[in-house]
Amino acid sequence: MRLPACPGLAGIRIAGAGAACMPASAKVSAKTPRNSLVTTIMLSQQQLKQQAADAALAFVAEVAAPDVVIGVGTGSTADLFIDGLAAYKGRIRGTVASSERSAARLAGHGLAVLDLNDVDYMPIYVDGADEIDDHLHMIKGGGGALTREKIVASVAERFICIADESKLVAQLGAFPLPVEVIPMAREAVARTLRLLGGQPRLREGFVTDNGNVILDVHGLRIAEAQGLEKVINDVPGVVTCGLFALRGADVALLATQSGVRRLEKPHHA
Ligand code: A5P
Repeated sequence: MRLPACPGLAGIRIAGAGAACMPASAKVSAKTPRNSLVTTIMLSQQQLKQQAADAALAFVAEVAAPDVVIGVGTGSTADLFIDGLAAYKGRIRGTVASSERSAARLAGHGLAVLDLNDVDYMPIYVDGADEIDDHLHMIKGGGGALTREKIVASVAERFICIADESKLVAQLGAFPLPVEVIPMAREAVARTLRLLGGQPRLREGFVTDNGNVILDVHGLRIAEAQGLEKVINDVPGVVTCGLFALRGADVALLATQSGVRRLEKPHHA
């Protein structure tokens, strides 16, 4: 069945078999009877990411002004946010990017990319996550940009996490924890990570924007994310680990099949 395209349609239930407007890539359940009056459309992961990115633009709209700088993360969801942020060219002072990849995409849209050393305040930092829990603690760094992400986020007043709902987990750790390491310390750090119960694996053929390597640590059971973040960050040779718990997100915008769910940081976290 070929569906007529309707870019931007967020609805997922279309009444009537002859519904005129559906996302071009939406999937119709195979179990749906041909003459059903209600057809369920499943949004793809890409469409969910787009919804989360679009929701973050509402936060930009709230703060946009000629002197305002927006912090920008890295990854496929952040890329969609960057594309939407292009509409703010000339309406904000500029951006600070958390990676060379994001800087290039921002510049490609004509948005100013500023040196963090020239910026002392950002109202928001917008970025994705590899996992997030209900304390809004995260694992990040699947794209290898964890250190710059953590630095840029530290300057922002609010961290807005954008993701599809698959990133929400009851306990962090199924996603291997990225740890950025100075190359000469690779084996020393790996031995310590094994003592902590993890199985570190070198991310082959990958060098960070800072010239370092990444150890992806499998098998960690992360019961106390803030404590583990401190312990790993204190290992000599570690630049930073991909736990974002000491400074987690303030708001999470998680796109679901029934709309964008907003989670706020609990006061005790
Ligand atoms: C980049 O280093 C990461 O922290 C990303 O923010 C994270 O991996 C989320 O990426 P996606 O939006 O591509 O899932």
